[in-house]
Amino acid sequence: MSTPGEPTAPLRWRSAVEAALYGPGGFYVRPGGPGPAGHFRTSVHASALYAGAVARLLQWVDAQLGHPRDLALVDVGAGRAELLVGVLAALDPRTAERVRPYAVERAERPDGLEPRIRWTAEPPEGVTGLLFANEWLDNVPLDIAEDGHYVLVAPDGTESRGGPLEDADRAWLERWWPGGGRAEIGRPRDEAWGAAVRSLERGLAVAVDYAHIRRARPPYGTLTGFRGGREVPPVPDGSCDVTAHVALDACAGPGAVLLTQREALTALGVSGARPPLALASSDPAAYVRALASAGEAAELTSRSGLGAFGWLVQPVGIPAWPQPAPQDGGT
Ligand SMILES: C[S@@+](CC[C@H](N)C(=O)[O-])C[C@H]1O[C@@H](n2cnc3c(N)ncnc32)[C@H](O)[C@@H]1O
Repeated sequence: MSTPGEPTAPLRWRSAVEAALYGPGGFYVRPGGPGPAGHFRTSVHASALYAGAVARLLQWVDAQLGHPRDLALVDVGAGRAELLVGVLAALDPRTAERVRPYAVERAERPDGLEPRIRWTAEPPEGVTGLLFANEWLDNVPLDIAEDGHYVLVAPDGTESRGGPLEDADRAWLERWWPGGGRAEIGRPRDEAWGAAVRSLERGLAVAVDYAHIRRARPPYGTLTGFRGGREVPPVPDGSCDVTAHVALDACAGPGAVLLTQREALTALGVSGARPPLALASSDPAAYVRALASAGEAAELTSRSGLGAFGWLVQPVGIPAWPQPAPQDGGT
């Protein structure tokens, strides 16, 4: 955020976005704002089916861990904790009472939130369970490079050429985004994700985001803005979200699985299949409910929308998820 009288010298994108989103009065942290849900629709807000699927994933993790007395559910970049509330509601009561829910957020705790949800600025250390980060990493600010130099940005969004890249950023680009041109240096996301994964003693860490992989990086990058439900130019003045897709393959640690949201939700039983027409005459109310649910599932799994999001699934001391389907032995 820039205010009258403050210097407006161009900054590297990472510093400019850090201040615009999380500095005093920043887009995500200013009190009384509508929260992320007021500006864009994530899977969490699209349908309760999403929380139901995460609840089933938590139950799978619980079984792998041998049903511990304390089962952590850590939501990183939790927004207003809507996903945590939804997962707790979707779980059977006996599992729900063992769950220790943590909302990891830079914004203030919202008024009236269930007291059992712990609100924290950093992931809790040494817990056992499921760490889930829906659309967190795309909001971890990063620098932008063009032809071996940083790109600078003024508070009104005007860009200029900065100094030459530091060695660590040059090395990241060589490994993960080779080829020159304009590139988004994902190193801060790799580091943020690595720290989140290390906070788990055992369990599963899942990052869900707009993503791309090394063989298909977007030639001009993906930096953009959102305000009030609309895509707007990325101007780092605190008036809008500023986001860039995530190089999820660069974040992945040993044993991680990368899949699309469509694949992940299908494995968790979310289906966009229409209910059988016969149900319409035998139980019209059930038919209408099933039809609405199929529509929501279709939105979450759409190949051209939320279903194309990437899921990075990182096991910590438990088997990978999803497990490969057993071979049927030809019978
Ligand atoms: C796009 S919103 C997603 C909210 C929610 N997960 C959802 O899917 O609806 C990103 C959230 O991540 C939070 N955030 C960004 N960096 C963070 C960090 N390092 N630690 C905790 N929260 C962070 C922001 O404040 C913001 O609320």
